Amino acid sequence: MKTNYEQWAVYQIWPRSFADGNGDGIGDLHGVLAKLDYLKWLGIDAIWFSPLYPSPNADYGYDCADYKNINPEYGDLELFKQVIDEAHKRNIKIIIDLVLNHTSDQHEWFKQSKIPGSKYHDYYIWRKGKGKDGKKPPNNWLSMFEGGAWEYNEDLGEHYLHVFAKGQPDLNMANPAVREEVKDIMRFWLDMGVDGFREDVITYIAKREGLPNGFPLPIATGCKHYTSLPKVKDYLREFKHDVLDKYNAFTVGEAPMMTTKVAKDYITGDDHVLDVMFHFQHMEADCIMNDWVATPFRLGKLKRVFKHWQRELHGQAFNANYMENHDHPRVVDKYGSRKYRVQSAKMLAALYILQSGMPFIYQGQENGMTNIELQRLDQFKDVVTFNNYNLAKKFGLSEKFFVKYANRRSRENSRTPMQWTAEKDAGWATPWFPVNENCSEINVAAAEADPNSILHWYRALLKFRKENPVAIYGKYTPLRAGRKVFAYESEHEGKRLVFVGSFSDKPKAFTPPAGGELVFCNYNTVQQKLQPWECRVYVMEN
Ligand code: GLC
Ligand code: CA
Repeated sequence: MKTNYEQWAVYQIWPRSFADGNGDGIGDLHGVLAKLDYLKWLGIDAIWFSPLYPSPNADYGYDCADYKNINPEYGDLELFKQVIDEAHKRNIKIIIDLVLNHTSDQHEWFKQSKIPGSKYHDYYIWRKGKGKDGKKPPNNWLSMFEGGAWEYNEDLGEHYLHVFAKGQPDLNMANPAVREEVKDIMRFWLDMGVDGFREDVITYIAKREGLPNGFPLPIATGCKHYTSLPKVKDYLREFKHDVLDKYNAFTVGEAPMMTTKVAKDYITGDDHVLDVMFHFQHMEADCIMNDWVATPFRLGKLKRVFKHWQRELHGQAFNANYMENHDHPRVVDKYGSRKYRVQSAKMLAALYILQSGMPFIYQGQENGMTNIELQRLDQFKDVVTFNNYNLAKKFGLSEKFFVKYANRRSRENSRTPMQWTAEKDAGWATPWFPVNENCSEINVAAAEADPNSILHWYRALLKFRKENPVAIYGKYTPLRAGRKVFAYESEHEGKRLVFVGSFSDKPKAFTPPAGGELVFCNYNTVQQKLQPWECRVYVMEN
């Protein structure tokens, strides 16, 4: 295992909503430059940028129209180079999103692929259809985002595969020419100074030969035939050997539907092909299938998942720990409490940041930002929201009901503009997406000024983690606790850390560990019982 990244805490920027440098209401790289000192102050070691590529924004950059350029809405290559240099001066690494499963339908390759005889035709997965006229799709696969997974092209008389939105045709990674392009793209950014990649839905990049039908599901039918096939590892090994290792580049792969058994195959051992991996299991304590079906929150599930990943990977690989990103609602609303927003945000932060692994913090999370309260469907922007609305309609649900649902569950909850100040719209001029009305109360300026803020708490946690290897490498043991209490112990080289956090609005009985020194508490005074959403962290020598 490479050792250089283990200490990192990573901050994710979803560029469109982070900071606007030129006042057009869209986040950009000038905005980022202006906030580097803020990020340094917070104590992060690396920034992960969600896609900055030129894109028609069918999926806000996850539909890439040019892999070697910067979206003019955000800046240009020269400005990005400046961001890299300024970040490096502050000892902050830069990780960029790499979307290899698909491109935009506006990418030059895809446009060319529609020309009969073009070498780009085989860059994508074009197939003849079924039925007399060939207009029926080649198989029964459904996309993750938008109905069927195939789109018919009249001129060619063929269908192309899109596992995600229509505007995101899947690349044919089995074609060696495509893999050469990938390596070329990697070199391009690494030569510019980027330190690593977050590889989008990386376990989907190989498709089963013959593209057989899948077991029918309401959504994502066929996913078994493109999830974690053995070829994925072959491709990643090739990228690593031919490019990534030469630059000592860091990789984190996104892996929906991942289990520890399969994950270990990717991230452990001498022939590991990714450094760390994002799985989704701990994000599903209040839903099934990645937010598609909401369920009541189950703390037991959260406990089981953390225990399982911590124990299984210990000593072999590193966990990528996160509670938020651009694909999920805000965690205070997901697992915490709006009534006890400050306490619950702090508790959840300590719960995951002090576990062994690399913590990832999503923009605004450090300030306890919350979900939105939009009134109408047309205020939403995301292809997934509209797809889910179409599904909801099929089940007879009304728009009004769906808007309420989306305000709780949609990933747009994490995509509202960052709340920097208490001014109208948090300081954004004509923001591209509604700013949460609570910005007058929840904003960075106020949090900076308040030593008891969530922001200061995150900063203190990150500092503590840096200074205490037990919070980076510790061996995890769950501790017995009441039904609404989460407790674990972490142990490393004779030092122990005990975390205890309440998920309850009511006081909870608790016995502090003997001889423990209290290093964190989200209340100013400690009582005998745990107060609502209280969290305490103790350390002790063995
Ligand atoms: C990943 C991204 C998500 C995107 C999808 C398709 O899950 O995190 O935002 O929509 O891949 O690229
Ligand atoms: Ca702008």
